[in-house]
Amino acid sequence: MSELWLRSSVRSGVRVATAVLLAITCVGAAASAQPPPVVNAQRGKVLGYTCLGCHGIKGYRNAYPNYAVPRLRGQSVPYLIQALQEYRSGNRAYPTMHLQALSLSDQDIVDVATYLAGQPVAGAKPAAASEVPKAAAVCTSCHGSDGIGISPLYPTLAGQHESYLIRALLEYQSGYRKNPIMHSMEATLSPADITVVAAYFSHLKPGLHTVPRPDTRWAAKR
Ligand code: HEC
Ligand code: HEC
Repeated sequence: MSELWLRSSVRSGVRVATAVLLAITCVGAAASAQPPPVVNAQRGKVLGYTCLGCHGIKGYRNAYPNYAVPRLRGQSVPYLIQALQEYRSGNRAYPTMHLQALSLSDQDIVDVATYLAGQPVAGAKPAAASEVPKAAAVCTSCHGSDGIGISPLYPTLAGQHESYLIRALLEYQSGYRKNPIMHSMEATLSPADITVVAAYFSHLKPGLHTVPRPDTRWAAKR
């Protein structure tokens, strides 16, 4: 089903299309309970092209505050959908990403998230309890000792940029990112713990990657 079809059907008041649209809207809230939306892979690729200007360059950094732009390849699709919905609504108040997400419809978000994520990270071995730093032990019940989310709503942390993980944790601490689960987790972490957990998860392999660009000459040194 194309997005165009959806839009024109809604405009002409077809009930079934409205229901589909509602189902897509609910994906972020209860991804596991909803039937998977129909994905238009080709459209995802077209929409995703502008995103590669930042997410497709290895080691690309946000200027201020200075941290690496998150790796998206291998990330869970429902988590990326939820993140984009939150940027669009302003609930996750990062200005550049708010602007990027504003023009995206619900279907666009599903398509582009699916394209950018590609195949989920696989093949990891759970770490032995003795290998997990004390501060990170509590995190593994959702994010896995291998750093791979145990459910699609828990993002994968393995291989994510260390500076981005630190930034994200500080955002939960300050309330700038409003997820209640992570806010309560964060409350127990000292600044030293944040350094330890970010180093642990970012170094796990296999892990997330930068989305490959069609033209590899763009790729800076990792
Ligand atoms: C100008 C650079 C830039 C562009 C272009 C850009 N992004 Fe981002 N993106 C960022 C930065 C920086 C962050 C981290 C923001 C934060 O701290 O919340 C981010 C975060 C994200 C996240 C959240 C990842 C996570 O792990 O929580 C998603 C999803 C995302 N971007 C998707 C997109 C999509 C889709 C596009 C294209 C429509 C896009 N981005 C274009 C810079 C960019
Ligand atoms: C009960 C489950 C749970 C536990 C335990 C948990 N998290 Fe999370 N975590 C989540 C959820 C859900 C999200 C997505 C929240 C959102 O959408 O902002 C998340 C998001 C994150 C993110 C942001 C990822 C990104 O790509 O932006 C980081 C970093 C993170 N968690 C680290 C941790 C650390 C470190 C711990 C241990 C101190 C921890 N989490 C414990 C559920 C959990």
